[in-house]
Amino acid sequence: MIQSEIRFEHPSVVDAKSLFRLAACNDNLDLYPEYFYLVWARDFRKTSLVAKSGDRLLGYILAYIRPDDNRTLFLWQIAVDPSVRSSGLGFSLVKKLIDSVGEDVSAFEATIDVCNDAAYNTLTSLAKQYETNVSQKDLFLESDFISSHHKETLIRLERKKELVNEGVEQE
Ligand SMILES: CC(C)(COP(=O)(O)OP(=O)(O)OC[C@H]1O[C@@H](n2cnc3c(N)ncnc32)[C@H](O)[C@@H]1OP(=O)(O)O)[C@@H](O)C(=O)NCCC(=O)NCCS
Repeated sequence: MIQSEIRFEHPSVVDAKSLFRLAACNDNLDLYPEYFYLVWARDFRKTSLVAKSGDRLLGYILAYIRPDDNRTLFLWQIAVDPSVRSSGLGFSLVKKLIDSVGEDVSAFEATIDVCNDAAYNTLTSLAKQYETNVSQKDLFLESDFISSHHKETLIRLERKKELVNEGVEQE
């Protein structure tokens, strides 16, 4: 994959089908109904990004500003097409999203299954770039779910240094 051929933009409602399709081909992702992706692409598009090559969706990150803490961006779900994994796209998606939300947002949170090395390493790579430590705690335990579900561990990064804004197409 040549990174320069990839376009990063905020999703729109027409991307919802592709978001659902990409989520569906990831076994270790919670798959939400199609309607979820439609609403997300309408209401949370400014805090989310898609990566495309031509019309093909290669990856996405969905995030929101926490309603009770507008300095914290919660990274809800990230996925990269299996054919282009481990080539830096996941990292670029998170970094470009962080760049695009502005300096008022100073903390970034995500919950992960700690066994998900790719997700964990993507976040810790970001922490290195920000020159900060990663804080980690259990947010939701298995017993908080009705269905069988791994515990969700909260990873929190605090912004310590400015990142350069690069390459996000704004409307
Ligand atoms: C998690 C995910 C988005 C990462 O995207 P990616 O494009 O493959 O990741 P990158 O190439 O940008 O790599 C980011 C870091 O993770 C590491 N990494 C990537 N794939 C890895 C793997 N399979 N195992 C361990 N580490 C991995 C990279 O080495 C890099 O770390 P480094 O900077 O220290 O070298 C991708 O693996 C994915 O879509 N997984 C399925 C969905 C998922 O689990 N999402 C997370 C929960 S919401």
